[in-house]
This record gives sequence, structure tokens and C-alpha cells, in this order.
Amino acid sequence: MTTLSAARVSELFEASFGFKPVTTVKAPGRVNIIGEHTDYNGGFVLPAAINYNTFIALAPRDDRQLHLVAYNFDNASCVVDLDAVQQHDAAESWPNYVRGVVQELRKKGFTLAGGDLYIAGNVPAGAGLSSSASLEIALIRALLALSGEAVDPTEAALIGQAAENHFVGCNCGIMDQLISARGQENSALLIDCQDLSVRPVPMPADWEILIVHSGVKRGLVDSEYNQRRQQCETAAAFFGQTSLRAVELAQLLAAEGELDELSFRRARHVLTENARTLAAAEALAAGDLPALIKVMVESHASMCDDFNITTPAIDSLVDILVEAGAGKAGARMTGGGFGGCVVAVAPAAVIPQLIAAVETKYQARTGCIPTLIRAKASAGAF
Ligand code: GLA
Repeated sequence: MTTLSAARVSELFEASFGFKPVTTVKAPGRVNIIGEHTDYNGGFVLPAAINYNTFIALAPRDDRQLHLVAYNFDNASCVVDLDAVQQHDAAESWPNYVRGVVQELRKKGFTLAGGDLYIAGNVPAGAGLSSSASLEIALIRALLALSGEAVDPTEAALIGQAAENHFVGCNCGIMDQLISARGQENSALLIDCQDLSVRPVPMPADWEILIVHSGVKRGLVDSEYNQRRQQCETAAAFFGQTSLRAVELAQLLAAEGELDELSFRRARHVLTENARTLAAAEALAAGDLPALIKVMVESHASMCDDFNITTPAIDSLVDILVEAGAGKAGARMTGGGFGGCVVAVAPAAVIPQLIAAVETKYQARTGCIPTLIRAKASAGAF
């Protein structure tokens, strides 16, 4: 899986359709360094696109159909009529991404054109690394390559998000699609989710990102996720606002006791996480490792205590990484929560001691099997 490349996916297309594709496009997954559950609250996030992608090899057809084959689903196939009103497919999940993207592109006035497409990805699914967003953004690139139409990358991200919100059923924010579309090599992006402005923050040359999959399968993700979003909206409404971005931390703290306890904790996570994300961007830009470690560790504690989205095994994994780093590694859960991955940031020289600690301690402590991913901050799809 990890050895997938554009050339390999092109060969897989040929094996499946019997002729060569005209081109292959790709869109990356992402790791979020910090800024969790802040995007749909109009807050700040600091993700990086990673060197794991969804690839799509494609060739035009002379009708208005898409014929698709999905490598990651045992070469399952589906046919989509570009001019039909798209219906949700209850039996299989992956065609919904295609139908959702087609529907949203058509709504925005894109004409689209028929094509044969072979989809294959190596972003681990269900890991909190945005395999869904990478599929949506790769599909948008592929469909517009077929029709020769152009799209602004931020607009592409909004279309991908709308497909996920309306067709897949997760009420996600904009972070994953935006970083998959707009990521930059060797940089994280500080995104202000209120106005969608982005600022590249270069990674210090001798620092590395280590992602560890906890081996904990994410459960109840969409329902818990949508519930968190609602709780944040309830907290904002208490202050007469539609978004927590419009609420100051001091205002929230002054309302402790008046606001119900759950809404208070959810809002405290979001508002303190916004401040930590801005501090992390400064720390990364300045190469200030102690400052970055401090906010990553605080972010994890806040996700655990105030937002209640971590699991005991994930908490142990973060402890193991931070301990092994001995003041030279920051770590926290990354992504929507309830399982999935932990992200660590440390100087390259420290990474081997982090890996050794995970390998010797994590399974013994939790019974879960970790997977180590050495990721590089990479360019987005556009
Ligand atoms: C998922 C969503 C994002 C974001 C994160 C949590 O990845 O798709 O929009 O809300 O969870 O930070």
C-alpha cells in the first residue's frame, strides 16, 4: 500500500480498463499538528499535508458517465450518470464520495465530462489522517481534469466539505479539505477558519513529524463528532453568538456556573485551543521546541478532560512519547478523536528514541498494536 505511486496506479488502470490512462492526479491526507475541533467554530488550525495520497488515473469517455474502480475496495466498481440527481448509496460507502462531489460540482455550475477512473490510496482509513478529504479533493481534481474546467483551491475545499456534509453525513469543518488542496512542502499551514486565510509556517529543517497509529479503531466517530459540534453551538448561543470565535476566553470564564457544565468545558477547550494554535505557529516558526511541546501537551490534556475525545490507550501513547522525548518531543492525539493517531514533533535525532519507546512499551501497556509513520510535510493537490 505505502508503495503506491502515480506510475503504479496508471498500471492498475491499464490492467482494469485495458488501455492506458491519459493522466494521474493525486491529493494528500493530512496530519493536524494542533487546533482540534476548532475549525467548525471559526477558529485556528495548524495542519500539514503528508506524503500519503489518494491517486486517480483517468481517461475521457464519449458519453456522460463516470466508470470508477476502487483499488482499496477489492476493485469494486460503480457507474455514475453525470446528469442524474445523485442518490445516496446505503449499501456501499465509497460511491457516496463520488456522488456527493458530482452533485456539489454540478450545483456550482461545473459542466463535467464522462470518464473512466481508477482510484487507489495509501492514506490509512479511519486513522484521523483524512483519507476522506484526500478522496474528495482527488475526485475534484480528476473530474475537472476530464472536463478541462478550473477551480480555485479554496473553492475546491468548500465543494469537498459540502459533499461530506450533505452526502456522507459527517458535519465536518473545512480543515481537512483545505489542507489537502492547499498544503505546502516542508510547511504546516496556519488556517484561520473564519475567513479561510492561510499562512505557511515552515518546519525547522532538522525537525520531523512522527505519526503513530494507536491501533484503536475509531468508534462512533460521526455521531460523537456531530454531537460535539452541536454542544459548541449551544455554548455560542448562550452568548448570543453563532460561533465560539466571537466569544472571548475571559467572557467564558466569567460565565462559569451560569452556563451548564458540559457546554462550559466544550467551549473552554475550543477557546484555549485557539490560543495554543497561534502559540504553536509562533513556536514552529521560531524553532522554539519547549514552547511547542508545552502547547501540544496542554492540547492533549484539554481534548481528554474538557472535550472528552481521547481514549485510555491514546493517552498512554502520548505519555510514552512525551516521556521518551525527555523534553525534546511534543505529542498529542491528532484528528477528530475516539481512536486513530497521535502526532509527535521532535528533532530528527530524537525520533529513534521515540520509536524504540513505542515499540517496547505501548503494546505491553495497552494490548494495542501501534503502526509508525514517518511523515513529511508535503504539497497539496493544487
Ligand atoms: C475531522 C474533521 C475536521 C476537524 C477535525 C477535528 O478531521 O473532518 O473538520 O473538525 O476532525 O479537529
